[in-house]
Amino acid sequence: MQLKGPIGVFDSGYGGLTILKEIRKLMPEYSYVYLGDNARAPYGTRSFDVVYNFTLQAVTALFDMGCPLVILACNTASAKALRNIQQHDLPKMQPGLRVLGVIRPTAENIERLSVNGHIGILATEGTVSSRSYEMEIAKLAPQFTVTSQACPMWVPLVENNEAASPGADYFVSKYVNEILEKDSDIDTIVLACTHYPILFPKIRQAVPQRIKVVRQGEIVAESLKDYLCRHPEMKERLLTNGDCRYLTTENPEKFTGLASLFLDEKVDVSHIDL
Ligand code: DGL
Repeated sequence: MQLKGPIGVFDSGYGGLTILKEIRKLMPEYSYVYLGDNARAPYGTRSFDVVYNFTLQAVTALFDMGCPLVILACNTASAKALRNIQQHDLPKMQPGLRVLGVIRPTAENIERLSVNGHIGILATEGTVSSRSYEMEIAKLAPQFTVTSQACPMWVPLVENNEAASPGADYFVSKYVNEILEKDSDIDTIVLACTHYPILFPKIRQAVPQRIKVVRQGEIVAESLKDYLCRHPEMKERLLTNGDCRYLTTENPEKFTGLASLFLDEKVDVSHIDL
Protein backbone atom coordinates (compact mmCIF):
# COMPACT_ATOMS: atom_id res chain seq x y z
CA MET A 1 0.00 0.00 0.00
CA GLN A 2 1.24 3.50 -0.90
CA LEU A 3 2.06 5.81 2.04
CA LYS A 4 -0.07 8.95 2.23
CA GLY A 5 1.63 12.36 2.31
CA PRO A 6 0.95 16.07 2.77
CA ILE A 7 0.42 18.66 0.05
CA GLY A 8 3.63 20.65 -0.49
CA VAL A 9 3.29 24.40 -1.00
CA PHE A 10 6.38 26.23 -2.24
CA ASP A 11 7.25 29.90 -2.55
CA SER A 12 10.43 31.95 -2.74
CA GLY A 13 9.53 33.48 0.63
CA TYR A 14 6.48 34.61 2.57
CA GLY A 15 4.19 35.32 -0.38
CA GLY A 16 2.94 31.76 -0.79
CA LEU A 17 1.41 31.99 2.68
CA THR A 18 -1.34 34.10 1.07
CA ILE A 19 -2.14 31.11 -1.16
CA LEU A 20 -1.74 28.51 1.58
CA LYS A 21 -4.13 30.43 3.81
CA GLU A 22 -6.92 30.26 1.20
CA ILE A 23 -6.20 26.61 0.38
CA ARG A 24 -6.41 25.66 4.06
CA LYS A 25 -9.58 27.70 4.49
CA LEU A 26 -11.24 25.74 1.68
CA MET A 27 -9.68 22.34 2.46
CA PRO A 28 -8.70 22.27 6.15
CA GLU A 29 -8.83 18.47 6.24
CA TYR A 30 -5.54 17.92 4.39
CA SER A 31 -2.01 18.01 5.81
CA TYR A 32 0.39 20.59 4.37
CA VAL A 33 4.10 21.40 4.30
CA TYR A 34 4.98 24.98 3.44
CA LEU A 35 8.50 25.68 2.19
CA GLY A 36 9.76 29.25 1.82
CA ASP A 37 13.16 29.79 0.24
CA ASN A 38 13.50 33.07 2.17
CA ALA A 39 17.31 32.91 2.22
CA ARG A 40 17.39 33.20 -1.58
CA ALA A 41 14.34 35.45 -2.13
CA PRO A 42 13.57 37.43 -4.15
CA TYR A 43 13.39 35.21 -7.21
CA GLY A 44 11.75 37.88 -9.37
CA THR A 45 14.96 39.41 -10.68
CA ARG A 46 16.83 36.12 -11.14
CA SER A 47 17.53 34.41 -14.47
CA PHE A 48 15.46 31.57 -15.89
CA ASP A 49 18.11 28.93 -15.06
CA VAL A 50 18.56 30.06 -11.48
CA VAL A 51 14.80 30.11 -10.75
CA TYR A 52 14.46 26.69 -12.38
CA ASN A 53 17.33 25.17 -10.35
CA PHE A 54 16.17 26.65 -7.04
CA THR A 55 12.58 25.54 -7.67
CA LEU A 56 13.62 22.02 -8.65
CA GLN A 57 15.65 21.73 -5.44
CA ALA A 58 12.63 22.76 -3.37
CA VAL A 59 10.22 20.47 -5.23
CA THR A 60 12.63 17.53 -4.86
CA ALA A 61 12.94 18.23 -1.10
CA LEU A 62 9.13 18.24 -0.75
CA PHE A 63 8.83 14.98 -2.72
CA ASP A 64 11.56 13.45 -0.49
CA MET A 65 9.44 14.42 2.53
CA GLY A 66 6.59 12.35 1.10
CA CYS A 67 4.46 15.03 -0.60
CA PRO A 68 2.84 13.45 -3.67
CA LEU A 69 1.63 16.86 -4.87
CA VAL A 70 3.45 20.22 -4.82
CA ILE A 71 1.85 23.59 -5.53
CA LEU A 72 4.23 26.26 -6.81
CA ALA A 73 2.55 29.12 -4.94
CA CYS A 74 4.90 31.53 -6.68
CA ASN A 75 4.22 33.15 -10.02
CA THR A 76 7.88 33.54 -10.84
CA ALA A 77 8.57 29.84 -10.24
CA SER A 78 5.37 28.92 -12.12
CA ALA A 79 6.48 31.11 -15.05
CA LYS A 80 10.11 30.01 -15.20
CA ALA A 81 10.27 26.48 -13.81
CA LEU A 82 6.91 24.68 -13.90
CA ARG A 83 6.88 23.61 -17.52
CA ASN A 84 10.46 22.31 -17.43
CA ILE A 85 9.84 20.38 -14.22
CA GLN A 86 6.62 18.88 -15.60
CA GLN A 87 8.14 17.95 -18.96
CA HIS A 88 11.74 17.02 -18.13
CA ASP A 89 12.05 16.18 -14.44
CA LEU A 90 8.78 14.51 -13.38
CA PRO A 91 9.07 11.72 -16.00
CA LYS A 92 12.42 10.72 -14.43
CA MET A 93 10.95 10.59 -10.90
CA GLN A 94 8.72 8.12 -9.08
CA PRO A 95 5.45 7.79 -11.06
CA GLY A 96 2.37 9.71 -9.98
CA LEU A 97 4.08 12.78 -8.45
CA ARG A 98 2.56 16.09 -9.58
CA VAL A 99 3.49 19.79 -9.57
CA LEU A 100 0.91 22.51 -10.24
CA GLY A 101 1.31 26.29 -10.59
CA VAL A 102 -0.74 29.46 -10.14
CA ILE A 103 -0.77 31.02 -13.61
CA ARG A 104 -3.05 28.60 -15.45
CA PRO A 105 -5.80 28.70 -12.76
CA THR A 106 -5.75 32.51 -12.90
CA ALA A 107 -5.93 32.55 -16.70
CA GLU A 108 -8.87 30.10 -16.59
CA ASN A 109 -10.85 32.62 -14.53
CA ILE A 110 -9.98 35.71 -16.49
CA GLU A 111 -13.14 35.87 -18.65
CA ARG A 112 -15.32 35.86 -15.57
CA LEU A 113 -13.28 38.64 -13.92
CA SER A 114 -13.29 41.34 -16.61
CA VAL A 115 -16.22 43.03 -18.31
CA ASN A 116 -14.39 44.92 -21.06
CA GLY A 117 -11.49 42.49 -21.62
CA HIS A 118 -8.75 44.93 -20.60
CA ILE A 119 -6.60 43.17 -18.01
CA GLY A 120 -3.64 44.53 -16.06
CA ILE A 121 -1.02 42.15 -14.68
CA LEU A 122 1.20 43.37 -11.84
CA ALA A 123 4.06 40.94 -11.30
CA THR A 124 7.79 40.48 -10.82
CA GLU A 125 10.25 41.27 -13.62
CA GLY A 126 10.71 37.52 -14.15
CA THR A 127 6.99 36.83 -14.60
CA VAL A 128 6.52 39.87 -16.85
CA SER A 129 9.49 39.06 -19.10
CA SER A 130 8.36 35.41 -19.42
CA ARG A 131 5.10 36.69 -20.98
CA SER A 132 3.40 33.66 -19.36
CA TYR A 133 0.16 35.53 -18.59
CA GLU A 134 -0.08 36.91 -22.13
CA MET A 135 0.39 33.40 -23.53
CA GLU A 136 -2.00 31.60 -21.17
CA ILE A 137 -4.73 34.25 -21.54
CA ALA A 138 -4.32 34.28 -25.34
CA LYS A 139 -5.09 30.53 -25.40
CA LEU A 140 -8.32 30.93 -23.40
CA ALA A 141 -9.51 34.48 -24.22
CA PRO A 142 -7.71 35.65 -27.38
CA GLN A 143 -9.92 38.74 -27.60
CA PHE A 144 -8.48 40.11 -24.32
CA THR A 145 -5.92 42.93 -24.11
CA VAL A 146 -3.27 42.13 -21.50
CA THR A 147 -0.95 44.83 -20.16
CA SER A 148 1.83 43.89 -17.76
CA GLN A 149 3.86 45.94 -15.34
CA ALA A 150 6.86 44.77 -13.32
CA CYS A 151 6.91 46.01 -9.71
CA PRO A 152 10.47 45.20 -8.60
CA MET A 153 10.29 47.10 -5.30
CA TRP A 154 7.20 45.37 -3.95
CA VAL A 155 8.67 41.99 -2.92
CA PRO A 156 11.60 43.61 -1.02
CA LEU A 157 9.05 45.80 0.79
CA VAL A 158 7.15 42.69 1.91
CA GLU A 159 10.21 40.56 2.73
CA ASN A 160 11.58 43.42 4.85
CA ASN A 161 8.32 43.98 6.73
CA GLU A 162 7.77 47.43 5.18
CA ALA A 163 4.41 46.64 3.52
CA ALA A 164 2.44 48.87 5.89
CA SER A 165 5.04 51.63 6.23
CA PRO A 166 4.46 55.13 4.81
CA GLY A 167 7.53 54.57 2.59
CA ALA A 168 5.65 51.86 0.68
CA ASP A 169 3.06 54.37 -0.64
CA TYR A 170 5.45 55.88 -3.16
CA PHE A 171 6.32 52.58 -4.83
CA VAL A 172 2.74 51.31 -4.76
CA SER A 173 1.45 54.42 -6.59
CA LYS A 174 4.40 54.43 -8.98
CA TYR A 175 3.67 51.03 -10.55
CA VAL A 176 -0.13 51.46 -10.43
CA ASN A 177 0.21 54.77 -12.32
CA GLU A 178 2.61 53.22 -14.83
CA ILE A 179 0.25 50.39 -15.78
CA LEU A 180 -2.74 52.75 -16.09
CA GLU A 181 -0.70 55.05 -18.34
CA LYS A 182 -0.10 52.07 -20.65
CA ASP A 183 -3.84 51.21 -20.82
CA SER A 184 -6.37 53.50 -19.16
CA ASP A 185 -9.24 51.12 -20.08
CA ILE A 186 -8.08 48.38 -17.71
CA ASP A 187 -11.07 47.23 -15.61
CA THR A 188 -9.34 44.39 -13.76
CA ILE A 189 -5.88 44.25 -12.21
CA VAL A 190 -4.48 40.87 -11.20
CA LEU A 191 -1.96 40.79 -8.36
CA ALA A 192 0.12 38.17 -10.18
CA CYS A 193 2.71 37.77 -7.48
CA THR A 194 1.83 35.95 -4.30
CA HIS A 195 3.57 38.59 -2.18
CA TYR A 196 1.38 41.43 -3.41
CA PRO A 197 -1.79 40.67 -1.38
CA ILE A 198 0.25 41.68 1.65
CA LEU A 199 0.33 45.18 0.10
CA PHE A 200 -3.39 44.98 -0.75
CA PRO A 201 -4.64 47.85 1.48
CA LYS A 202 -2.19 50.26 -0.15
CA ILE A 203 -2.76 48.91 -3.67
CA ARG A 204 -6.55 49.19 -3.25
CA GLN A 205 -6.13 52.81 -2.19
CA ALA A 206 -3.92 53.64 -5.18
CA VAL A 207 -6.13 51.94 -7.81
CA PRO A 208 -9.28 53.83 -8.90
CA GLN A 209 -12.45 52.31 -7.38
CA ARG A 210 -13.91 51.39 -10.80
CA ILE A 211 -11.09 48.85 -11.26
CA LYS A 212 -11.28 45.40 -9.69
CA VAL A 213 -8.14 44.22 -7.88
CA VAL A 214 -7.87 40.44 -7.90
CA ARG A 215 -5.90 38.31 -5.45
CA GLN A 216 -5.08 34.77 -6.53
CA GLY A 217 -5.54 32.85 -3.26
CA GLU A 218 -9.20 31.90 -3.66
CA ILE A 219 -8.79 31.16 -7.35
CA VAL A 220 -5.88 28.78 -6.74
CA ALA A 221 -7.69 27.12 -3.82
CA GLU A 222 -10.86 26.52 -5.91
CA SER A 223 -8.77 25.22 -8.77
CA LEU A 224 -6.93 22.78 -6.49
CA LYS A 225 -10.23 21.52 -5.07
CA ASP A 226 -11.49 20.96 -8.59
CA TYR A 227 -8.23 19.19 -9.54
CA LEU A 228 -8.58 16.79 -6.60
CA CYS A 229 -12.21 16.04 -7.56
CA ARG A 230 -11.04 15.19 -11.06
CA HIS A 231 -8.06 13.17 -9.79
CA PRO A 232 -9.30 10.74 -7.12
CA GLU A 233 -6.03 8.78 -7.47
CA MET A 234 -4.18 11.84 -6.11
CA LYS A 235 -6.80 12.54 -3.45
CA GLU A 236 -6.31 8.96 -2.22
CA ARG A 237 -2.62 9.66 -1.66
CA LEU A 238 -3.13 12.73 0.55
CA LEU A 239 -2.86 12.74 4.33
CA THR A 240 -5.86 14.20 6.13
CA ASN A 241 -4.60 15.18 9.58
CA GLY A 242 -5.44 18.86 9.11
CA ASP A 243 -1.95 19.96 10.18
CA CYS A 244 0.68 22.19 8.61
CA ARG A 245 4.48 22.27 8.95
CA TYR A 246 6.50 25.31 7.97
CA LEU A 247 10.04 25.17 6.62
CA THR A 248 12.33 28.04 5.70
CA THR A 249 15.85 28.24 4.29
CA GLU A 250 16.31 31.33 6.54
CA ASN A 251 16.32 31.69 10.28
CA PRO A 252 13.11 30.12 11.73
CA GLU A 253 12.66 32.90 14.33
CA LYS A 254 12.77 35.53 11.61
CA PHE A 255 10.21 33.58 9.57
CA THR A 256 7.87 33.13 12.55
CA GLY A 257 7.86 36.86 13.30
CA LEU A 258 6.86 37.92 9.81
CA ALA A 259 4.61 34.95 9.04
CA SER A 260 2.39 35.85 11.99
CA LEU A 261 1.55 39.12 10.20
CA PHE A 262 -0.44 37.31 7.58
CA LEU A 263 -1.43 34.01 9.18
CA ASP A 264 -3.98 33.98 11.96
CA GLU A 265 -2.23 31.25 13.92
CA LYS A 266 1.10 30.85 15.62
CA VAL A 267 3.33 28.72 13.41
CA ASP A 268 5.98 26.19 14.24
CA VAL A 269 8.89 26.66 11.85
CA SER A 270 12.02 24.59 11.13
CA HIS A 271 15.09 25.37 9.08
CA ILE A 272 15.84 23.44 5.89
CA ASP A 273 18.91 23.52 3.64
CA LEU A 274 18.20 22.94 -0.03
N1 DGL B 1 6.12 35.34 -4.70
C1 DGL B 1 6.72 35.28 -5.96
C2 DGL B 1 5.73 35.43 -7.10
O1 DGL B 1 4.58 35.11 -6.92
C3 DGL B 1 7.96 36.01 -6.26
C4 DGL B 1 8.59 36.85 -5.26
C5 DGL B 1 10.07 36.94 -5.53
O2 DGL B 1 10.50 37.80 -6.31
O3 DGL B 1 10.74 36.10 -4.95
O4 DGL B 1 6.10 35.82 -8.17
